[in-house]
Amino acid sequence: MADEQVEPQVVRAPKGTHDVLWPASSRWEALVAAFAGRARRAGFGLTITPMFEDARLFRRGIGGQSDVVNKEMYEFTDRDNRPLALRPEGTAPVVRAFVQHHPPVPWKAWYVTPAFRYEQPQAGRYRQHHQLGVEVLGTEDPDLDVEVIALAAGFYADLGLREIDLAVNSMGCAEDRPRYIAALSEFLAEHASELCDEHSERYGVNPLRVLDCKRPECRAVTELAPRLVDFLDEACAAHLARVRSGLDALGIVHRLEPRLVRGLDYYTRTTFEFSATALETAQNAVGGGGRYDGLAEAIGGDPTPGIGFGIGIERLLMACDAEGCFAALPHPPHAFVIDLTGGEQARDLVDELRRAGLTALRAYDGRSLKSQLKQADRSGARYAVMIGAEELAAGVVTVRPLREAGGEKTEQETVARPEITARLRELTGEG
Ligand code: HAM
Repeated sequence: MADEQVEPQVVRAPKGTHDVLWPASSRWEALVAAFAGRARRAGFGLTITPMFEDARLFRRGIGGQSDVVNKEMYEFTDRDNRPLALRPEGTAPVVRAFVQHHPPVPWKAWYVTPAFRYEQPQAGRYRQHHQLGVEVLGTEDPDLDVEVIALAAGFYADLGLREIDLAVNSMGCAEDRPRYIAALSEFLAEHASELCDEHSERYGVNPLRVLDCKRPECRAVTELAPRLVDFLDEACAAHLARVRSGLDALGIVHRLEPRLVRGLDYYTRTTFEFSATALETAQNAVGGGGRYDGLAEAIGGDPTPGIGFGIGIERLLMACDAEGCFAALPHPPHAFVIDLTGGEQARDLVDELRRAGLTALRAYDGRSLKSQLKQADRSGARYAVMIGAEELAAGVVTVRPLREAGGEKTEQETVARPEITARLRELTGEG
C-alpha cells in the first residue's frame, strides 16, 4: 500500500512549488517594477527567452560536473525525442539568445524568470523559484563589474534592506585555475581525514566544491587552504583590484571572501554573493553572480566576455519580512458600486469609472443590500456608490465614504448621475 500511487482527492501543487495569490502578489508586482526601474536607468532592456531549452545548452554552459546540471535539472524529451530541460537558471539562456541574434555590444539584458531545480525543499529552497537578473555581454571592463554589483546593492537598499553582506572573490582565468586546483588538491589530500563524510573521499572530483561546503569539519580545513586570490596572474589581480577600488569609491561595503566559488562552473574572474544576515535560515543568499568570459564560446559563439547576477525573489521577500521592510502595499479600490435595481446601472457605471482611470468594483448575482455592503467593505474600497430605485428615478446616486480619507471622515452625499465620475475623481484626489 505504501508505494501505491493513490489518486489524490484534491490535486495539489507539486512538492517544492507554491502559489502566490493576491494580495500577497502585489508585493511581487512592486518588486519587479522597482527592479525594472533601476535596470532601465542603467541601460538594461527586458529580455524574454523560452522556459525550456536544448538540454545541451546547460550541460555545455553551466558544466556537467555541477550539481545544478548533474543532479537537479528537470530534463525530458519531447514527442520528437529532442533532449530538453527546464531552465535551472537564467544566464545560459540569455547568452544563447545573444549568440543566436548577435545584438550590438555592450548588450545589457534584464529578466524576471522562474528557475527549476530538483532540490530537497526547505525554507528558502524550492523546486521552482523565481529570479530577477541582469546580464551584460561584450566587455571585460572592471568598471562594468562595479556597475553591475552597484545595481544589485542599490536595489536591496531601495527595498529598505540594511543587513546585507557582500562577499567578493576572483575565480581567475583559465590559466590561473589549474595551478590553483593543483595546490588545493595537494592541501586537501593532506587533510582528507578531517573533511566531512561526503568530501573526505570525493574531494578529488571537484576540489573547488569543498570550499563551498558549509559543514564545520570542511570549514575548519578550508579556513587554512591556499587562496585562489594568491594564484591570480597580473591581469586578473589588477582586474580584481580595480573592481574593489570601484566598490569603495561608490561606498559599497564588501569583503574579500577567498572561499567564494559559487555553484555554477562558468565563472571567471569576479564572483560575488549577497547574503541577508537577518535571515536565520541556512539559505540566506539573496543574490549572486559574476563574470563568465568563456561561456559564449563554450556554447558555440564567438569569444565574448560577460557578467551578471541573479536575485531570488522568494528569499528576498523573506529577508524583507525579517527586517520588517517592503511591506505589501494595499491598493484600495476607489469605488464599489452597489446597484439594487437589477445590475444594469452597476454594469455601466463601473465601465465609466474605469475608463476615467478609477478602480471600480461591483457585486454580481443580484445580491441583497446587506451582502453588497459587506463585499464593498471587504474590498477595501474608499467609497460605496449606491443606486436604488429612488436614486434611479431621481437621476442621482448616493456616495458613502467607507474609509476615512486623510484623517477626515466625509459625509454621505447625493450626486447627480452625470457628475459622479468627476466627483469621485475629486474625492479620491485622482482629478
Ligand atoms: P545562483 O546563485 O544559483 O546563480 O542563483 C541566484 C539566486 O537565486 C540565489 O542567490 C538565490 O537567491 C536564488 N535561488 C537559487 N536557487 C534557489 C532555490 N532552489 N530556491 C530559492 N531560491 C533560489 C544563478 O542562478 C546565476 N545564473 C546568477 C548569475 C547571473 N551569474 C551570472 N549572471
